[in-house]
Amino acid sequence: MCGIAGYIGKNEAAPVLLESLKKLEYRGYDSAGLAVIDKNNKINSIKVNGRINLLEKELRKNDPLKGSIGISHTRWATHGEPSKKNAHPHSDCEENIWVAHNGIIENYKILKEQLEKEGHQFKSDTDTEVISHLIEKYFKKNGQNLEKAVRQALEKIEGAYGLAIIARDEPDKIIAVRKGSPLIIGLGQDEYFIASDPSAIIGYTKQVIYLDDEEMAIIKKDGFKVVGFDNIEKEKISQETEWDVKQIQKSGFSHFMLKEIFEEPEAIKNSIRGRLIPEDGLAKLGGLESVTEKLKEINRLIIVACGTARYAGLVGEYMIEEYAGIPVEVDMGSEFRYRKPIIDKKTAVLAISQSGETADTLAALREAKRKGALTLGITNVVGSTQSRETEAGVYNHVGPEIAVGSTKAFISQLTVLALLAIYLGRQREMSLITGRRIGQELQKLPDLAEKILKQDQQIKNLAKKYSKFKNFFFLGRKYNLGIAEEGAIKLKEIAYYIHAESYPGGEMKHGPIALIDENLPSLFIVPSDSVYEKMINAIEETKARKGKIIAIATEGNEEIKKIADDVIYIPKTLEMLTPILSVIPLHLFSAYMGLELGCDIDKPRNLAKSVTVE
Ligand code: G6P
Repeated sequence: MCGIAGYIGKNEAAPVLLESLKKLEYRGYDSAGLAVIDKNNKINSIKVNGRINLLEKELRKNDPLKGSIGISHTRWATHGEPSKKNAHPHSDCEENIWVAHNGIIENYKILKEQLEKEGHQFKSDTDTEVISHLIEKYFKKNGQNLEKAVRQALEKIEGAYGLAIIARDEPDKIIAVRKGSPLIIGLGQDEYFIASDPSAIIGYTKQVIYLDDEEMAIIKKDGFKVVGFDNIEKEKISQETEWDVKQIQKSGFSHFMLKEIFEEPEAIKNSIRGRLIPEDGLAKLGGLESVTEKLKEINRLIIVACGTARYAGLVGEYMIEEYAGIPVEVDMGSEFRYRKPIIDKKTAVLAISQSGETADTLAALREAKRKGALTLGITNVVGSTQSRETEAGVYNHVGPEIAVGSTKAFISQLTVLALLAIYLGRQREMSLITGRRIGQELQKLPDLAEKILKQDQQIKNLAKKYSKFKNFFFLGRKYNLGIAEEGAIKLKEIAYYIHAESYPGGEMKHGPIALIDENLPSLFIVPSDSVYEKMINAIEETKARKGKIIAIATEGNEEIKKIADDVIYIPKTLEMLTPILSVIPLHLFSAYMGLELGCDIDKPRNLAKSVTVE
């Protein structure tokens, strides 16, 4: 979703802004633009309807915008179609005040009407443009003080926003504002960077300051201050981001998605590193230490998440119920707060989000907090909103995930949930032996995952064979139900000419079977586990209706070859850990299907990596 970058310092701004935007491309966008203050204090801007490379071309054509202060933006359309006129930054009537915005202004219609009545001329269909006109209005009214004008404008606007603002009449500063949408300041040597997330600027600096909600930073070349919306100055401490430049490069892979799938064994390793005490059968989760006692008391866990992260939650439900004996519910971030969730002091709400910025998940979390729940989180992004708003949590530590479809972070979420099952289980009835056993098996997973990746070519061939089909079913049961969901969403996200649905194996006969014929292949996740026989029944029923069968089965199962058209084997592990292996071929399958169909697998159409609006 929209990305913001800004630069103020001793160097030319345009190349930095362009580079930063390239790093934010992964968030998903349809148009882009930038605005730079030149040495005569004129603001020049270039916008394009399309990719950053187009913006780069335009920049070259127009003799690069000169100047050392500027802001830039990648837009993911919400109000108004993707077009040059709707691309950011947006200016006021006099092209004095320029704004780049991430988020949604909910009351923009009323504000726009009022401003139009007052004579303001709008040039775009966006909600953002009201911000520049509002600031213009107050700038003129209050004797031309930009900071004051921004504050007055903020009093009028409702919604979520991260803003970067520059003005011709105060050409020595950038104002950055945060309410709801993430924004950070990077601290360089006599230069400052602004960005929606650290990946945009880690090539320049690793020292960052995370703005909190309702904070505004006034950044000049020689220093900056952060004030609350109440104008009280805040002291901010910088943090060093753990990400490095190598992690945001493709390192020989054609696509980030492939690179990140091949990092899955490493992701498992990084997620368990230092977190197991094998001899005691314990999981050591430092981020939960502060709430250890509270966790002993909880008698219910609600997992809230969106998209792929929610499917990790579905697997977590089975793990935690079986091994910790705590009832677990999984809800979509977008639904949770619109029902009447029953929560008391013994309920913990666990948010799972790779980015830690998903607006729906955060909204659910805040509702849970309001109702008195203990709030926990699993996220990959240190310093993200989720990590700062939850009482305690666990980081994935898998490095930046750039491809829109979440792969290595998903594997890590599953791994952390298995650790959590040990952690909560050992606080309750789980025996030392069981704790040890799960720990031992977890430690074997990175090598087993590597083994699956060696079947890369076979999965590629499979994708070739099946790429002509337009619809797919994904079926799984129990621990692998969430994986069937994940397999289906990945296929339709990444190979976006294909429709895919998932069902619990046992539900097949209650409806979906009506659709089965030779044109609808089904992918069955059928490891040798406690529901194996039941899954075989579903396969037989499908086969009897001429449905094609692809099976993900446990090594050594030769029987399955007799009923499945194609089989991909995964090594044997504990039943609760099979999802961590069974999902790997599905990730590869969707990536190769996408490539077969000519899809942009890193940036699938219409999708955004980090969905920061509700
Ligand atoms: C978007 C992405 C999905 C992702 C979901 C949750 O919808 O397109 O791939 O699973 O957000 O993201 P999160 O950062 O909260 O895990």
